[in-house]
Amino acid sequence: MTLIAHVSDTHVDGGRRIVERTTRVVDYLLGLHRQVDAVLLTGDLADHGQPDEYEQLKMLFKRLDVPLLHLPGNHDRREEFVAAGLGPLNRVECVGDVLFALVDSTIPGKDEGFIENIEWLDEALSIDGPAFVCFHHPPIALEHPYADRLRQFGEERLEAVIRRHPNVVAVLCGHFHTPTVTTFAGVPLVIAPGIKSTLIMPWERETDGMDYDDRPALVFHQYTGGRLTSTYKIL
Ligand SMILES: [Fe+2]
Ligand SMILES: [Fe+2]
Repeated sequence: MTLIAHVSDTHVDGGRRIVERTTRVVDYLLGLHRQVDAVLLTGDLADHGQPDEYEQLKMLFKRLDVPLLHLPGNHDRREEFVAAGLGPLNRVECVGDVLFALVDSTIPGKDEGFIENIEWLDEALSIDGPAFVCFHHPPIALEHPYADRLRQFGEERLEAVIRRHPNVVAVLCGHFHTPTVTTFAGVPLVIAPGIKSTLIMPWERETDGMDYDDRPALVFHQYTGGRLTSTYKIL
């Protein structure tokens, strides 16, 4: 069984609030009965993509002695992300016999997303074993007027690539700051909550805003016997 803790949108900014919320997650993971096999961080690791923010992020997660599968979000900056030792921007990591394709879906200077190097993903998925496709921006509209303007575009290319590789188990992403599950290209699309904040959905209140009072949360992905089970945990 492969067990992944999926954490997203920490937006580390040098402030105490984010340190406290991220520390709560790390402390919780350290106290688990069974240690996770890896931690997946799906972007917006830093709030302004600054070197000191990446140093703080690395410090916060250092206590967890497990692989970190990280990729950039729209708040990260490519050059600083790589300079902090978090690159390359597109990379493959294996956890046991499960492959994680970590894809850069950012467009420098913009909040919406697009996978520039779709050929790289096509190549990365050309293996026999199970594979997860991970990036920051959800590639479809999620019926939230504000967030949908900042989603990932060009999803027809991505869908074609995923459908070409039946070994893809699921797509995992962040950016939406809300625990959400849907489907894309015939597989589950599982979105992690945001550590920094939670998006207010249109049926809750009429606002484009975020809720900063919600507790931090994460999602566990358990992959066993060919089946993915995702379990959300609010801390
Ligand atoms: Fe974010
Ligand atoms: Fe984002």
